[in-house]
Amino acid sequence: MAITKKALLKALSTVQDPDLKQDLVTLDMIKNIKIEAKKVSFDVVLTTPACPLKELIRKECENALLETFDNAVAFLINMTSNVTTIRDKGPLIPQVKNIIAVASGKGGVGKSTTTANLAVALAKTGAKVGIIDADIFGPSIPTMFNCENEQPAVKVEGGRNMIIPIKQYSVQLMSIGFLTPAENAVVWRGPMASSAFKQFIGDTKWNDLDYLLIDLPPGTSDIHLTLVQTLPVTGAVIVTTPQKVALADAQKGLAMFKQPPINVPVLGIVENMAFFTPEELPNSKYFIFGEEGGAKFAKKNKVPLLGQIPIVQSIRESSDNGYPAVMTDGIIAEAYMQLAAELARQVAIRNAKKDKTQVIEVTV
Ligand SMILES: Nc1ncnc2c1ncn2[C@@H]1O[C@H](COP(=O)(O)OP(=O)(O)O)[C@@H](O)[C@H]1O
Ligand SMILES: [Mg+2]
Repeated sequence: MAITKKALLKALSTVQDPDLKQDLVTLDMIKNIKIEAKKVSFDVVLTTPACPLKELIRKECENALLETFDNAVAFLINMTSNVTTIRDKGPLIPQVKNIIAVASGKGGVGKSTTTANLAVALAKTGAKVGIIDADIFGPSIPTMFNCENEQPAVKVEGGRNMIIPIKQYSVQLMSIGFLTPAENAVVWRGPMASSAFKQFIGDTKWNDLDYLLIDLPPGTSDIHLTLVQTLPVTGAVIVTTPQKVALADAQKGLAMFKQPPINVPVLGIVENMAFFTPEELPNSKYFIFGEEGGAKFAKKNKVPLLGQIPIVQSIRESSDNGYPAVMTDGIIAEAYMQLAAELARQVAIRNAKKDKTQVIEVTV
């Protein structure tokens, strides 16, 4: 069959995005078609550079083309992405496409470690990523990114002082830790903490971002309320260990996001410290905090399980030394890359399906 743009699109309309359950043409994912005698090229624009189905979709495109056209034609398929958003271009940080709250019920379950590794993992795929360290009382992002002593620059813009986020490992960062010594932050109380947090959102000069991760304080605090009152949050990620007490608190966190009028979709659960495997016994798994607690929790609440991260000494060490573990090579980095891909996938599904999250009015 002769190749025309129409025939090409017809062939590609047999390929589905398995998550969005529509074909690539209907989803308007085929762009930049160039047809020469024996050479055809086009872009497939995915919903995220972290798409775990990238190679599968490419293969299916190739198969569809081989079935329709003469195999003397060379096809050049360029897999690219444009991260989706459900945001209207509102007044606050319109340049940020997706705002993702990372929460936990209990402290110490690995929320900041997970946030740091997710951010670096997403940035490694080519996404534009930022973190707001909203744990005003115990900021740990500066340590985890080895920039405790950095001080952000301030730039006057339209008569306003704008803070320039610190950029480290390709991630833009904002934390109270950059503005005040950590030991001063602990004495902050509700309204002060909330206004500092608002400043991170509004008075920070964020570049364009695909994903802005918010590392929330543990539990359900004023900061949580400020967040959902200020910004339309794309969704929440809940980090928990498999332990009973952590799960009980995670349930409260989940209930907060789900309760009307907050209604923030839960994108999924991260089960952290899921098991321990000693180096000398690589085939053994010890379930120190209980087995499959996070997985069962996700199932019970009908939310996705984004991944299970083992308890590993090198994760703790790299956090303390200021380089997230995903920056190393090996199975731990791989686990975080997969976790990030699963998160990006859930964001894309949420953006395709769910209604917009409204900024809520809460009268207290
Ligand atoms: N999967 C893991 N394996 C080993 N240590 C971990 C893991 N996740 C977190 N940690 C360590 O546990 C401690 C608490 O983690 P952190 O991310 O600060 O928790 P949170 O932000 O929930 O309070 C830190 O010392 C961190 O390095
Ligand atoms: Mg923390």
